[in-house]
Amino acid sequence: MVAARITVNGKETPIAPAAPHTTVLDFLRERGLTGTKEGCAEGECGACSVLVARPGVNKPTDWVPVNACLVPVAALDGQEVVTSEGLATPGEPGTPPTLHPVQKEMAVRGGSQCGYCTPGFVCSMAAEYYRPDRCAHAGSGSGSEAAGATDTAVGTDGTDGTDGTDGEHGPNGFDLHALSGNLCRCTGYRPIRDAAFAVGAPTDEDPLARRREQSPPAPVATEYHQDDSAFLRKDTLAETLRLLSERPDAVVVAGSTDWGVEVNIRSRRADCVVAVDRLPELRELRVESDHIEIGAALTLTEIERRLDGTVPLLAELFPQFASRLIRNGATLGGNLGTGSPIGDSPPVLLALEASLVLADADGEREVPLADYFTGYRQSVRRPGELIRAVRVPLPLSPVTAFHKIAKRRFDDISSVAVAFALDIESGIVRKARIGLGGVAATPVRALATEAALEGKPWAAEAVEAAAEVLGGEGTPMSDHRASADYRSAMLGQSLLKLYAQTTEAVPS
Ligand code: FES
Ligand code: FES
Repeated sequence: MVAARITVNGKETPIAPAAPHTTVLDFLRERGLTGTKEGCAEGECGACSVLVARPGVNKPTDWVPVNACLVPVAALDGQEVVTSEGLATPGEPGTPPTLHPVQKEMAVRGGSQCGYCTPGFVCSMAAEYYRPDRCAHAGSGSGSEAAGATDTAVGTDGTDGTDGTDGEHGPNGFDLHALSGNLCRCTGYRPIRDAAFAVGAPTDEDPLARRREQSPPAPVATEYHQDDSAFLRKDTLAETLRLLSERPDAVVVAGSTDWGVEVNIRSRRADCVVAVDRLPELRELRVESDHIEIGAALTLTEIERRLDGTVPLLAELFPQFASRLIRNGATLGGNLGTGSPIGDSPPVLLALEASLVLADADGEREVPLADYFTGYRQSVRRPGELIRAVRVPLPLSPVTAFHKIAKRRFDDISSVAVAFALDIESGIVRKARIGLGGVAATPVRALATEAALEGKPWAAEAVEAAAEVLGGEGTPMSDHRASADYRSAMLGQSLLKLYAQTTEAVPS
C-alpha cells in the first residue's frame, strides 16, 4: 500500500508523521500554509475553509469547500486540496503573486479589514465561482473588467431585485448561501456580498476551471497508523463490514462534522477510526416506483443537488440543517448514526416515514426510523453494523413543512425542530405524520397530535385544538438553549404557523 499522502496546491506531501486525529487545518498550518485560520475549531466560522476536488454534478470534478478544522488529514489520503495560497498565481521571484479574481474583488471592494476571516471567505467564494451552473449566468471574463458584472448591479440593501438579483443571488448567479458558513467579525457583510456579486466567469486558461474537466482523484484504501492509533479506509462495503466485525469499538466517520468537534473541543481520541464516506455502496441514490433510496454516505449537498426538489420536505430541511461548508461533508448516515435527539434530519425522516437499511458482515435488515432510537444517543444499531441507506416511501404527502427554532437558524443546533407531512383531501386531514426533535431523549413522532388531526377538518378550530395537544408532546427540558416552557410553546405554535402557511386566514 502506498504511504498516505495528500496533494496541496499541486504539491504531493506525505501525511506522516501527523497523528491520525490531526486535522487538515493543523496539518496545513504546521507546513507553513497559515492562510488557513482557526477561529472556532467546531465548524461554525469558516475561517479554515479549503477546497477539495470531489466528484462533480455537472462536470467530472467540483471544487468543494469544507471545514479543514473538522476533517482528519488522513481522511484526505490521495486527495487534492487547494488553500487560499493556492488560488493566487505565483509571480516571478521578487514580484507579488497575481490575485485570484475572488481575492481581487474582495480587496478592491473593501471585503477585508483585519483579514482573519478572508482566506476562508475566499475559498468558499472560489467554490461558488467555479460552480458550473453559476458560470452560465456570469458571462465571460472576470470581476471588475467583466462585461455584465458591474458594481452598480448590486445594491446595498440586499433587496434591490435588479438584473436577477434577489438579495440572495447576484446578477452573476452567485448564491450567497455559499457563504453561509463564513463569519466576519469586523468588515460587515455588504462589501463581501459586493465582491461575491461582482465576480465573472473563469477564463478558459484558468487552471482550476480546467481541472474540473478531469476526474477527481479516486478513493484510495488507507491504513494509516501512528502512535498506537489508526485511521483506516477500505475499498468496499464488504471489507469495511469485516473490519467493523473485528473492531466493533472503531469510530465510524463520513464527513467528520460531528467527530471533528469531539476531537477538537472535547479532546476525544479513538484507537481506530474507520472512514466510510467514499464507499460506492453507500453513495447511490435510486428512485424506485415505491421508494427513494438515499445512500448513507452521500453528502447533504449531493443529495440536495441530485434530488433537486423532488422531496420538498428534504429540500426545506437542507438549507436549515447547517451551513454549506458543513453540508458539503455531513451525511444522513452520520446524522442518524450519532443518535442525537437534536439532529435535524430525524424529525423530517420520521414525518416521511423513512426506514434505514442496516448492514453488517452477516447481511442487511430494514428498520423503520420510528423504531430505531431506543434512548439518549442509543439505537437498535448493533456493534459492527452500519447504516447503508435511508429509504423514503412514495408517494409523498403533499402538505409538508419543516420548522427549525434556533438562535442562528442556518448553522446552529435546534432548540426545537418540527416536521409535518399531511394528506388533506376535500378539507379533511386523511393522514398526519409529525416528527419532533429537541423535546425528548430521542427524536419522536407526535402520535397524539397525529391522532388529534386525522379525520378532522383542516380548519382553525380543529387545528387550534391539535396545537394544544402538540404543545404537550414530549418531555422537553430546560437548558442553555431554551426553557422547557418555550419549547412546548414553540411546538404548538409551529402547527398554527403551518395552518397559516396553507390557508389565507390566520387562526384567531
Ligand atoms: Fe471555525 Fe473551522 S475554525 S469553522
Ligand atoms: Fe476581520 Fe472578517 S475581516 S473578521
